Amino acid sequence: MLPGMAHASQSPPSSIAARLEDCIFAIKKRVAIEPRVGVVLGSGLGEFADSLDGLVKIPYGDLPHMAAPGVDGHPGNFCFGRAGGVPVVCMQGRLHLYEGHPVERVVQGVRIMGRLGARAILLTNAAGGLEPTWHPGDLMLVTDHLNLSGVSPLVGPDDGTLGPRFPDMTAAYDPELRASLQAVARAAGIPLREGVYAGLLGPQYETPAEVRMLRMLGAHAVGMSTVQEVIALRHMGVRVGALSCITNLAAGSSGHPLSHAEVEATARSRRAQLVTLLTGWIQRVGGA
Ligand code: HPA
Repeated sequence: MLPGMAHASQSPPSSIAARLEDCIFAIKKRVAIEPRVGVVLGSGLGEFADSLDGLVKIPYGDLPHMAAPGVDGHPGNFCFGRAGGVPVVCMQGRLHLYEGHPVERVVQGVRIMGRLGARAILLTNAAGGLEPTWHPGDLMLVTDHLNLSGVSPLVGPDDGTLGPRFPDMTAAYDPELRASLQAVARAAGIPLREGVYAGLLGPQYETPAEVRMLRMLGAHAVGMSTVQEVIALRHMGVRVGALSCITNLAAGSSGHPLSHAEVEATARSRRAQLVTLLTGWIQRVGGA
């Protein structure tokens, strides 16, 4: 046998679908709720989940094939409960490629939310603003993305039970979900910018030259998450929206070096607005 070839008697590595079923089985043993809506809470945005009615938390590390995130501001729990009466699942923190996780594990959490029956999923993230006139603390509805991470969660054997081999990404960020978020923001008097999110590998922040390149490519915000999750969810046919908290102006724009502490502090300062937006959006999208 050639080196590297699997021996015929070895059991094959479990498929993505099989790993998902293992997780769903473990979750259903601990919580009875069937979530209608899912939310991913990014850097410094996780507290929303603690306000859910009837909260049940399941740490990622308790589930098969998952892992605890290793980043400050990313606690690493599935949180089940109700917001305004709507059954919800939140991911309090996410896993990132830059932590060294394989892309299948990075998207496992959102795939679980899709498999649990969430009819729409909202991804939140912290991002650097590329528009010189924007300010830290601005909120941006993502209209489209540039996947510049060099990775797709769909590379590998085709699993037709999850979705098509070549999924369409024309309207990846669902226009109706975007309109709902804009309506909630307008009603609450919260300004909501719109733009294209560039997803990079990280973990280093960008150089000023990279920031200039991203502007030329048509991006409005830059971060280190979200794009793989969107691809995996669209592959499964789940409707997706995404909201960026512009926690800082991108490297070279503000006259001071970037830090994760600044990113977290700005995200936390937008907690009240974010809770208003998420609660209103969940009611519109998840209401009967
Ligand atoms: N760059 C990349 N990721 C980020 C940034 C940034 O400026 N801010 C928050 N996440």
